[in-house]
Amino acid sequence: MEKITVIGAGNVGATCADAIARRDLANQVVLLDIKPNLAEGKALDIWQTSALAGFNHQITGVTNDYSKTAGSGVIVITSGIPRKPGMSREDLIGTNAGIVKDVTKKAIEASPDAIIIIVSNPLDAMTYVAYKTAKTLSNKVFGMAGTLDTARYKAFLAQEIGVTPLDIQGLLLGGHGDTMVPLPRYTTVGGIPVTDLVAKDKLEAIIERTKKGGGELTNLLGTSAWYAPGTSAAYMVEAIVRNQKRVVPVCAYLNGEYGYKDMYLGVPVVLGANGVEKVIELNLNSEEKALLDASAAAVKKTLDDLKSIVTFD
Ligand code: NAI
Ligand code: 2OP
Repeated sequence: MEKITVIGAGNVGATCADAIARRDLANQVVLLDIKPNLAEGKALDIWQTSALAGFNHQITGVTNDYSKTAGSGVIVITSGIPRKPGMSREDLIGTNAGIVKDVTKKAIEASPDAIIIIVSNPLDAMTYVAYKTAKTLSNKVFGMAGTLDTARYKAFLAQEIGVTPLDIQGLLLGGHGDTMVPLPRYTTVGGIPVTDLVAKDKLEAIIERTKKGGGELTNLLGTSAWYAPGTSAAYMVEAIVRNQKRVVPVCAYLNGEYGYKDMYLGVPVVLGANGVEKVIELNLNSEEKALLDASAAAVKKTLDDLKSIVTFD
């Protein structure tokens, strides 16, 4: 791909740009931040790893100059404040809605054909803001959460069972909040149902830890996590750039799928060169559907709050 832009050169954005560079996904990576010199400094530092990490393309940092992002094929939006211990992702909405709206407008003007991946929280609502602002196709605007949440789920399971996380297949639905829905029925270890390998109480504890995985790190770090979030966003970029048709949970626009309309929610999709190429609808049992309904209701509530904060033309 010719150019990929990452907006927000903070913890997640810089980690994401670094992961994109290491995976050699574009001829040019542009990192943009509103804070003077931050993106320039981070980009220069990442570029200076090229001889060590073995990549060859340009990584450029800019302060709020969208002309340098023009013609990007993928734009990752990480700008906005992160949470501190004791805060929920929803507490960020007042500040981040305005930032995501402003940034999306400028980014899509410079790159009208871009695919946009949102990372800023509260994720499901911020992805909705970007979609309504970008006025592009819904398959081209989506959010990163499920990749991260399943990566955490797989890491915890791998540790418990004593196997490589690479052999764990897991799925997780719903909003990027404490109501997210990890699905044991769709979790296997080298093809073996996880329920054959992990006792029920242990599995329940892992599911609870996954749901609160972001909070666990926020308490340890004093701000939210960045290595796994930045790498998760780069993993999605790779699926697009290399047209991998990966089956991953993505915060995708729903227009009737799973019974929800005009909202974003985490569901399994096929991710490829066209962005969200297909939303996969599972035959959920009544217990799973009830959990998903509760998660969708929490996301809907945040969306209602959002609509009292921002207007879309
Ligand atoms: P950070 O504070 O390290 O970086 C945010 C950057 O955004 C700062 O450098 C700031 O100057 C920049 N920024 C603010 N307004 C801007 C604007 N108008 N234009 C350009 N840049 C602007 O925060 P961090 O840790 O990188 O987190 C970023 C966001 O990602 C937060 O909202 C956080 O909650 C979210 N997040 C989401 C995850 C997910 O799974 N979806 C996981 C981790 C974080
Ligand atoms: C995370 O899950 C806070 O959304 C961020 O790490």
